[in-house]
Amino acid sequence: MRFIINGGKPLRGTIEVKGSKNATTKMMIASLLTDEECVLENFPSIGDTEITKELCEHIGATVTIDGSTARLCTPNIKSHRVTQLTRRNRIPILALGPLLNRVGKAEVPVLGGDKIGARPVDIHLDGLKQLGAEITHDDKFFYASAPNGLTGATITLRYPSVGATENIILASVLAKGRTVIHNAAVEPEIMDIILLLQKMGAIIGLGSDRTIYIEGVKKMHGARHRILPDRNEAVSFACLGLAFPGNEVTVKNAVQKDLITFLNAVRKIGGEYRIEDDGITFFRKDGLVASEVETDTHPGFMTDWQQPFLILLTQAVGTSVIHETVYEDRFGYAEELRAMGANIAVFSKCLGELPCRYNGQGHPHSAIVSGPTPLTGITLKVRDLRAGMAHMIAALVAEGESTIEGIEEIDRGYEDLDTRLRAIGADIRRVD
Ligand code: EPZ
Repeated sequence: MRFIINGGKPLRGTIEVKGSKNATTKMMIASLLTDEECVLENFPSIGDTEITKELCEHIGATVTIDGSTARLCTPNIKSHRVTQLTRRNRIPILALGPLLNRVGKAEVPVLGGDKIGARPVDIHLDGLKQLGAEITHDDKFFYASAPNGLTGATITLRYPSVGATENIILASVLAKGRTVIHNAAVEPEIMDIILLLQKMGAIIGLGSDRTIYIEGVKKMHGARHRILPDRNEAVSFACLGLAFPGNEVTVKNAVQKDLITFLNAVRKIGGEYRIEDDGITFFRKDGLVASEVETDTHPGFMTDWQQPFLILLTQAVGTSVIHETVYEDRFGYAEELRAMGANIAVFSKCLGELPCRYNGQGHPHSAIVSGPTPLTGITLKVRDLRAGMAHMIAALVAEGESTIEGIEEIDRGYEDLDTRLRAIGADIRRVD
């Protein structure tokens, strides 16, 4: 499937942010911790939730989705072997904890690296092993067991990985005794997952300095939870409001407290925003100016925001610098942007101040963007979700027609994107 976009049209109006993809899929896995029903409201209908639904059903859940409400209930674990899914995402490894707690064994697929980096899962596995899991693997599957059950432990993560933090939390809520996670990731999505787990009966506390405390309980129960709005959608739509003078986009449900770092970056490049009761309106009066940005774990500037933000920097006067410290290979999409007319050079040196794991390793993880440069429509293929969104924004900014191929990748994370963009003035068509 493709999107055909005629760029350069003014974008004005209100666009509503849906429930967070990266919280929803983990909450679906959290529902496997209980034999009672969990109800998730503000549930996004996206490719990633469909894939995770199949995963949960394979394990034994009944999943019913009615509009933006999902009901998940797993009275029994039908299969601890996650082996025959028709589509893949990175979620199955998070099912290890619930499966080990409920049936003492689990098999999930090994996930390879992807287009943004190697994406190893060593921190997940180290954490689960410290809780007492025995894990082996071949080139296709991880085989885990916990014959004596999981037991709480003090675990220090070598890097505050989002997935590893979630994995250890999901495994330890039903483990015996107390678990302490030091150097944990503290993204708002993780906080929202913790809120759901607390409603389900877990005992979880937050310490200062990235510490999470969990007292294992014997049983979890059903709960109802409204999923937090998607920060990545909010930022993508905000960038549309900032793309041209004259644009004005109200991002309904955008939450200021979860976007503080982004809002500061917007102000530094000369963008404007108005915080309202139920969202944030983005616009600009004058030209944008160059800036420097370094991605980091929360509360830093999120790695998933650098791609839409980079498009704004192509329209800013001067030389901007982006230092990507979370993934080693997240500038692949610059190639297509250069073909559209952007002036972007990518370097393996660290062009920033944050301590970075990629220093001196030759990974292309810093970019210099010189602007402003007019962009021209082209045909391009989506590489990964966020790069695809950057290409969408570039195509909406560009003069002329763009064709974006492989949009299934965008549908994994953005519900009904073309319809929502048309409602604010975009000239976009979905074509088979
Ligand atoms: C989550 O990925 C998100 N995905 C990503 O969003 C997001 O970019 C990322 O967090 C950072 O915020 C989901 O929530 C499904 P990490 P995750 O573990 O959990 C390294 C999107 O487009 N690492 O924090 O996989 C890893 O290689 C996606 O929505 C290890 O070295 O992120 C990476 O460089 C893309 N060993 C860094 O840590 C490990 O065991 C951050 O990864 C785990 C991670």
